Amino acid sequence: MTKALLKYKNYDVHSITTVSLLGKINANIATWVMQSAMQGKFITVALDKTDYTIELVKESMILNVNLLAKEQAKKLIPKLGRKSGRTSNKFINLPFEMDERGCPYLTEAIGYIQCRCVGNIDSGDHELFVCEVLTQKVLNPEKEVLTNDYLRAEGLVRG
Ligand SMILES: Cc1cc2nc3c(=O)[nH]c(=O)nc-3n(C[C@H](O)[C@H](O)[C@H](O)COP(=O)(O)O)c2cc1C
Repeated sequence: MTKALLKYKNYDVHSITTVSLLGKINANIATWVMQSAMQGKFITVALDKTDYTIELVKESMILNVNLLAKEQAKKLIPKLGRKSGRTSNKFINLPFEMDERGCPYLTEAIGYIQCRCVGNIDSGDHELFVCEVLTQKVLNPEKEVLTNDYLRAEGLVRG
């Protein structure tokens, strides 16, 4: 049987880190992230409506997009992408620092994009957050970018 066309696409793998107005922090896994303006001035992030991440982002409209490295896959996919921050503290044994806004970023990622969300729109079971890029920081340029194809090859995701 042939697979759906969208299954042929590959994606980079990220973690969206965020902080609420009251300082609650969280991190997820997200593949649906894209540059959406010239010169990297805006990016767009799809967030699942039922997750803790979107709850915090909607409060503060603050997030960082951390571009993950291949070597982070085995630890971070189960820890950040298969559990909710509502019921587990994902920052235990997770190397991170805070930016000047109090929003975490992952120090072992390739780097992070500091974002301010300027609007959100319905997208079925997700919402799309259009984000202004405030700054981009490369932390570990020697590492290899983690992709969804790599996760499939390693058996960390199906489909
Ligand atoms: C490979 C992979 C890709 C994912 N992509 C997205 C995504 O693009 N957007 C999203 O909101 N959730 C995505 N998720 C799901 C969230 O990471 C997952 O539901 C997580 O447990 C949410 O945690 P939270 O409740 O702490 O926010 C992805 C998960 C995996 C494993």
